Amino acid sequence: MEDSKVKEVVKKRYGEIAKNEESCCPSCSCGPSTRDVALQIGYSEEDLDNIPGGSSMGLGCGNPVALSRLKEGEIVLDLGSGGGIDAFLAAKKVGAKGKVIGVDMTEEMIQRAISTASEYGYENIEFRLGEIEKLPVEDNSVDVVISNCVINLSPDKKKVFQETFRVLKPNGRIMISDIVTEGELPTEVKKSFDAWASCVAGALEKNQYLNTIREVGFKDVKIVSESTYNMDVSQKLKGKITSVQVEAIK
Ligand SMILES: C[S@@+](CC[C@H](N)C(=O)[O-])C[C@H]1O[C@@H](n2cnc3c(N)ncnc32)[C@H](O)[C@@H]1O
Repeated sequence: MEDSKVKEVVKKRYGEIAKNEESCCPSCSCGPSTRDVALQIGYSEEDLDNIPGGSSMGLGCGNPVALSRLKEGEIVLDLGSGGGIDAFLAAKKVGAKGKVIGVDMTEEMIQRAISTASEYGYENIEFRLGEIEKLPVEDNSVDVVISNCVINLSPDKKKVFQETFRVLKPNGRIMISDIVTEGELPTEVKKSFDAWASCVAGALEKNQYLNTIREVGFKDVKIVSESTYNMDVSQKLKGKITSVQVEAIK
């Protein structure tokens, strides 16, 4: 699958989601509400009560901020920030002396997150349009990189981790929630653009994912929690997709 075609499909899909109010209507019969999905993903009621409405879109696969031990004053980068849920949670933790930068390649997502930040008066967040394979961020400038269900969508995951390594300060850390597979996926799934854009076809096998992070120079790479991922997954793939939270140090 061509890299540029993958990105085009992904942008189109998330652009359409960004323009809608929620990923699914909360009161009709089309499925669980965005809040229920977020609770299932791993956010607490308190998390959801403390972020701007509209920033939680039910698109993640974990709660990286809950595990990232953020401290006041730290600089945080959120890869594929979407509607901004994790960026807003991180902004509360790092406070006025800290800063959060969200990067996303989908214009509609960035616009949505920027207007939410301005509407709710967040002054320590900046959302930047850009690709995570070529981060619009300076070398050695970030304390913590977080990301939630995004890197699986990239056609060049090694480049994403190289870029992550570049922008982190020495001893900086990552806390990444993502989707990996248990063994290889069937070829027809890997070829499907739809499966790619819904976080499945692009997912790497678990050990390959961890080794890619090690290969670019990270140390102490470890999975801090994992669970079977069954949202949006066909019968054939049930049990083969895992949501992992990965920590590592530069
Ligand atoms: C599944 S959504 C997750 C959004 C957000 N992290 C959350 O948890 O709600 C994936 C997001 O990553 C963005 N994205 C996907 N591939 C990207 C890339 N290569 N560079 C930058 N952003 C990307 C999409 O535009 C989308 O907003």
